[in-house]
Amino acid sequence: MTLTSNLKSAFTERRVEEYLYSLLPRRDRVLAEMEAYAARHDVPIIGPAVARLLALQVAVTGARRIFEMGSAIGYSTIWLARAAGRGSEVHYSDGDPGNAARASEYFRRAGVADRIRVHTGDALTLLRDSGGRFDLIFCDVNKDQYPAALRAARPKLRRGGLFLADNTLWSGKAARTAASSDAQTRGIQEFNRLVFRSKALFAVLLPLRDGFTIARKL
Ligand SMILES: C[S@@+](CC[C@H](N)C(=O)[O-])C[C@H]1O[C@@H](n2cnc3c(N)ncnc32)[C@H](O)[C@@H]1O
Repeated sequence: MTLTSNLKSAFTERRVEEYLYSLLPRRDRVLAEMEAYAARHDVPIIGPAVARLLALQVAVTGARRIFEMGSAIGYSTIWLARAAGRGSEVHYSDGDPGNAARASEYFRRAGVADRIRVHTGDALTLLRDSGGRFDLIFCDVNKDQYPAALRAARPKLRRGGLFLADNTLWSGKAARTAASSDAQTRGIQEFNRLVFRSKALFAVLLPLRDGFTIARKL
């Protein structure tokens, strides 16, 4: 596959990254179409390498009740819903109703609409207002909101559940001093401190694509 600009890592050697993506099996028609749409319109989807990690986390933990914070056109939601299987409950959330409408159409075509609940509005509020606890929460909202997203998610996660977050190296900027005006980088840095200092979580940060964090609630 062509490594389009919305998927490229800022810190992985180009040749290594191309090799990594060349290993990935082809996606089905709906996912391939979504990848092409995202590349054309610069939608920051997680892409197939990180999506496989997401699906693997769902499969190995047997997660059935999932909340996604920041779902855009629903690319990662489809990977979550397929991995969770029939009868699972996956919550899509995004602030943009246009994204939600497009995502709903993709869910129908991907054959997973029955297990996805579509919510429009602020993902943190939607999660706080949702009933019950989740097996897995995936965070992909605006980066300045990551610390607040983590605080909102912790009580909504069951013990042993996973909190996953994308972009946690933020083009490598997380590792450098951030300007006080750079709210996104500062949000990621604060999130990384919180997640690794928390005695209630066990976290790993993988330098895959833009950085991906897996944290288990103890
Ligand atoms: C990086 S994109 C999500 C990509 C998606 N997870 C994927 O990989 O296919 C981030 C999305 O989150 C939405 N967003 C950002 N902050 C949000 C918030 N606080 N509440 C709801 N949606 C939010 C934006 O509208 C955008 O569509």
